[in-house]
Amino acid sequence: MPDLIPVLSKTELRRLVQDLAQRISADYRNRDLVMIGVLKGSFVFLADLIRELDIPTRIDFVQASSYGTGTQSTGRISLLKGISIDICRQDVLVVEDIVDTGLTIRWIIDYLKSFQPRSIGVCALIDKRERRQAEVPILYAGHEAGSGFLVGYGLDYAEQYRHLPGIFHLSI
Ligand code: IMP
Ligand code: MG
Repeated sequence: MPDLIPVLSKTELRRLVQDLAQRISADYRNRDLVMIGVLKGSFVFLADLIRELDIPTRIDFVQASSYGTGTQSTGRISLLKGISIDICRQDVLVVEDIVDTGLTIRWIIDYLKSFQPRSIGVCALIDKRERRQAEVPILYAGHEAGSGFLVGYGLDYAEQYRHLPGIFHLSI
């Protein structure tokens, strides 16, 4: 049976999301903010984050699949869902659950750049720096983590555990 070791509680996540939302609201006031969630992992985080903002934003989603074995991505990425609103000359904030090697988000940033937004930044709930292979402009990071595998609050392991209200370290 896999063990779930608590990393961030529901209360800690609420505080963390409120802090991020305050900073984003201050930085993007009077700009044209479009937040783009990376499916599927970011859906819970993005839903909570936008409800703590006090500025308007538009929302879109992208989904990419990374062909990897096990728990590490390979950088061979294909786009499953592209954007459906116009981001030309808009300030884009990509909202991601976890940035690990950075290869997925780097690829998504390059895809979004082709639509000529005014700016692109990244807001990551979890920043896992140990295995970083690509440079990623993470403007907002909720929590820095080591190399373990995390689940809950949208994050999955083989599509399981996304519904958990907290974040846990999965030890198999
Ligand atoms: P990267 O391309 O290595 O940065 O991989 C990023 C993607 O892998 C994230 O969007 C997550 O969906 C997934 N991922 C990486 N680490 C974890 C983890 O600890 N738990 C759940 N998903 C993860
Ligand atoms: Mg993801």
